[in-house]
Amino acid sequence: MSIVYNESAKSFKLTAKDTSYVIGIFDDDQFVCHLYYGDKLPDEDVNYLYGPVYQMRPSVLNRERARVMDWVPFEYPTQGIGDYREHCLEVETLDGHHTCDLHYVSHKIYAGKPALPDMPATFDNGDVCTTLELVCEDRTLQLEITLIYTTFETLDVITRTVRVKNNADRPIYLKRVLSASLDFDHQNLETLTLHGGWARECNPTRLPVVPGKLVTGNARGETSAQDSPLLALMDPGTDDDHGEVFAMNFVYSGNFYGCAEGHQFGGTRAVMGINPQNFTWKLIPGDSFTAPEVVMVHSNEGLGKMTRTFHDLYRNHLIRGKYKDRKRPILINNWEATYFDFNTEKLLDIAREAAKNGIEMLVMDDGWFGTRNNDDRGLGDWWVNEEKLPGGLKYLVDEVNKLGLKFGIWIEPEMVNANSDLFRAHPDWAIQTPGRPLSEFREQLVLDWSRKEVRDYVYDMIHKVLSSANIEYVKWDMNRTMTELGSAGLPADQQQELCHRYVLGVYDIMNRLTTDFPNILLENCSSGGSRFDAGMLYYSPQIWTSDDSDAIERLGIQYGTSLCYPLSTMGAHISAVPNHQTGRITPFETRGYVALSGTFGYELDVTKIPEEDRAMIPKQVAMYHKYNDLVREGDLYRMGSVYTHPEYDSWMVVAKDKSEALVTYIQVRAKPGFVGSVRKLKLKGLDPQTMYRDEETGVVASGTAWMSGGYWIENMSGDYVGKLIHLIKA
Ligand code: GLA
Repeated sequence: MSIVYNESAKSFKLTAKDTSYVIGIFDDDQFVCHLYYGDKLPDEDVNYLYGPVYQMRPSVLNRERARVMDWVPFEYPTQGIGDYREHCLEVETLDGHHTCDLHYVSHKIYAGKPALPDMPATFDNGDVCTTLELVCEDRTLQLEITLIYTTFETLDVITRTVRVKNNADRPIYLKRVLSASLDFDHQNLETLTLHGGWARECNPTRLPVVPGKLVTGNARGETSAQDSPLLALMDPGTDDDHGEVFAMNFVYSGNFYGCAEGHQFGGTRAVMGINPQNFTWKLIPGDSFTAPEVVMVHSNEGLGKMTRTFHDLYRNHLIRGKYKDRKRPILINNWEATYFDFNTEKLLDIAREAAKNGIEMLVMDDGWFGTRNNDDRGLGDWWVNEEKLPGGLKYLVDEVNKLGLKFGIWIEPEMVNANSDLFRAHPDWAIQTPGRPLSEFREQLVLDWSRKEVRDYVYDMIHKVLSSANIEYVKWDMNRTMTELGSAGLPADQQQELCHRYVLGVYDIMNRLTTDFPNILLENCSSGGSRFDAGMLYYSPQIWTSDDSDAIERLGIQYGTSLCYPLSTMGAHISAVPNHQTGRITPFETRGYVALSGTFGYELDVTKIPEEDRAMIPKQVAMYHKYNDLVREGDLYRMGSVYTHPEYDSWMVVAKDKSEALVTYIQVRAKPGFVGSVRKLKLKGLDPQTMYRDEETGVVASGTAWMSGGYWIENMSGDYVGKLIHLIKA
């Protein structure tokens, strides 16, 4: 068992691969305290870890209780007892009181990992997990709080969640139920969070921990492009290869909250969970509320190892379904090719040319349904527009299939345009505050998916469409945030449940869709990467990373996204130039190299691009087939990023068995007359003793030579040019 209870020390030692995490029961009061998180401890007796927590009992506690509470490293801090730092749990009783005081009651340790009710979570994949359930209680409130920890034996991963049960005979309101808290006894830390905006997702931001609070999170109703649910604390100066990192990532697709607080006693507390803003949950007697999962990754080899741990976890213990371990069909999407201006003939022209060049699937994007000839109408009317698609969907799909291509379709089921039959029939189905105007966003409104009847109605329409033809891929989009919150399906004292219930509603339909259509490849999207999160990856093995398809912008966006999420999950397409988002002109070849480190596909009118670009497609298709297994399954190492090195970007993927590696190098800005580190890449992750041959030049050298001596990149002419280097075991 990798979780051991030490009766004499009253401590739990959790071991996840090379990581230990120790929890102590502070025995007079039965407080559950955090004692250690870091490198694996060989010690069986961890009594010494109690340090000052242990020494202060019991006389000090009696006299100075309210003062002492403010520095006890609680595993799950609550409000009202004198701990004024960030807390995880806040309640409100029917009498209006907020105090909650937790004490250990019992525990159980067992093999495996429990699933979460109606929510995504990482899972055991063959006897690698051990779980600790620590039951605590506030006796006055008769509230039972179970802290649930799972360790992964083969990964430096510990997951956390919390179940709150109301054992009283009256309801209680949960105003804040975060999923995890970490206490550090120092402030010599930096935080890493991800921020951005539409078409600028996942920019890493580093800030030192200082007295006060650093908050990440959002209350937009979706995960958001502005903030992504990663909060890592790390040694100052941590880079890709050095430094200790403690990372928290949230397996959730709605409002989240993360905070790192430097407090008066020189320590740091970090918390993560559902954003308390727009959240209050009425817990009726006998009911339980379970918080979504936080994944904690520990690395003592910098951000690189953190990344590889997240990738292994998500590839093997989160992503599911037919395409989990499979190469995805190379798609061509018509969005940037035609926008709303298409019909069957135009799509078939694209499909014919695509088929000739080795592309494997046509994806019909927005605009095929209702009166949707523009983005101001039609959302919600999920039937085929036969003016655009004469003969219907079946005819089009059959014709596409005859060309040897699969067919995929775009949907945005959570939304409705005011100008739609659905909204005209059911105006109360949109989220709204009665008496207030409905703010539109892309002229659309959000359907109230906290209501089952609304979800069922939309899902029935979508089900009919997906059953009407041989559809093998779905792009599920979601293009606006929430405003004027309000649900016609909830009583006044449960209105604040809307956002979480909405997310559960989305999971419900994703679950139904993936169960009813197990062969469909589902790709999530939310105006690009606004819902790129681990929750979504439980249902869809890939997510559209960004609406910015410019290869150079993508270097940064894909870098930030890949900090947590595997390359196999990042939707990446080759689009036309001048790029529609930036106007930048980049070589077709470079666009291919950048897309290769994602799912790889095309988003352009293949009948209209220059002949020399089109001629390159079969080569790119061959490149994808040659390298995709390696890209999908290998270990990612970064040698440079546009964030730290404006002149180039470079990364490599090394096979798990170290037999081959693929290096991508993009010269962002040419520099003449420069000999030095800019063009000498110290490779990473190879086996030092193995001899590797550079497939292009035939040069053979040891892993040590490539890593310590480095690989000389020949000076290339021009900006935005790139190359691939393939090293194979000699
Ligand atoms: C969003 C998506 C795009 C495209 C459009 C269609 O912006 O991110 O890829 O599907 O919607 O309206």
